[in-house]
Amino acid sequence: MVVPPGPLLAGKVAVVTGGGGGIGRGISLTFAAHGASVVVAEQDAARANETVAEIEAAGGTGSAVVVDVTDPAQVGELADAAGAVDVLVNNVGHYLFKPTDFWETIKDEWDALYRVNLEHVFLVSRAIVPGMVERARGGSIVNVSTVEAFRAKPQSAVYAAFKGGVTQFTKSLAMELGSHGIRVNAVAPDLTETLQVPYDRWVTEQQQPLIPQWVPVGRFGTPDDIAGVVLFLASDLSAFVTGTTVHADGGSYAAGGWFRTRRGGWTNRPLDP
Ligand SMILES: NC(=O)c1ccc[n+]([C@@H]2O[C@H](COP(=O)([O-])OP(=O)(O)OC[C@H]3O[C@@H](n4cnc5c(N)ncnc54)[C@H](O)[C@@H]3O)[C@@H](O)[C@H]2O)c1
Repeated sequence: MVVPPGPLLAGKVAVVTGGGGGIGRGISLTFAAHGASVVVAEQDAARANETVAEIEAAGGTGSAVVVDVTDPAQVGELADAAGAVDVLVNNVGHYLFKPTDFWETIKDEWDALYRVNLEHVFLVSRAIVPGMVERARGGSIVNVSTVEAFRAKPQSAVYAAFKGGVTQFTKSLAMELGSHGIRVNAVAPDLTETLQVPYDRWVTEQQQPLIPQWVPVGRFGTPDDIAGVVLFLASDLSAFVTGTTVHADGGSYAAGGWFRTRRGGWTNRPLDP
């Protein structure tokens, strides 16, 4: 069937966790612009309300649910408040700690990383999927992973391991839900300017000219760059896509260790020879 023109999520209810800031906000605004009624599930009330106000100012529909998605009781309340959900985006995630060699990290840190990167994906999916199955009108789940689920993240090994878990969970859940018309996919961002990853503060003026050598597409990403991919995965444009991950990283995963040199060639050496 040819995809019909017009808004891609008209009449759909979409829950976006962490939907008030960074990539989550970009997804919330994009979904609303495509006709979804968006439930902005966010722990920061001000960010949640600002996002809903922005959705409404643009003529869309949204509601704020202030929730910590790592808390099982609050997740239950989120599922009740959201009602009949068609699209779920499990977007919350964070590296939490400064870079530290694994053998110097402690269990309390691993537990915190588990809660904010993997356990809430289980909690929110477990709370919302039964209703999706019961209503039998299909749906889409999109999990936000990272490039570091696919390549190493030295000194953030536990974060990378749990994000790898998101990738693997995405595949298995996709198998279980395929016959119910519910697709499950992931997006793996990198290099995207957000609250958590403020490249505008991290990259000095001196380093700015190096960006085209650093990122294959020549610039950092924006939340809208990721939101476009999530919209694709949430909508019928991707009706035959499930159990997979789309890399939305300006090419960094494909590049591996390769960088453009100042003379326009390529190097995989730590120093530009
Ligand atoms: N920005 C990047 O370059 C990048 C790269 C790889 C992966 N990611 C992934 O993208 C996702 C979003 O990252 P971001 O950079 O937009 O982050 P961000 O910190 O800028 O935004 C996250 C939002 O989630 C909210 N949030 C955090 N914990 C929450 C909780 N327990 N319950 C409810 N809301 C909560 C925050 O208040 C914030 O509004 C994460 O899963 C992250 O791992 C981002």
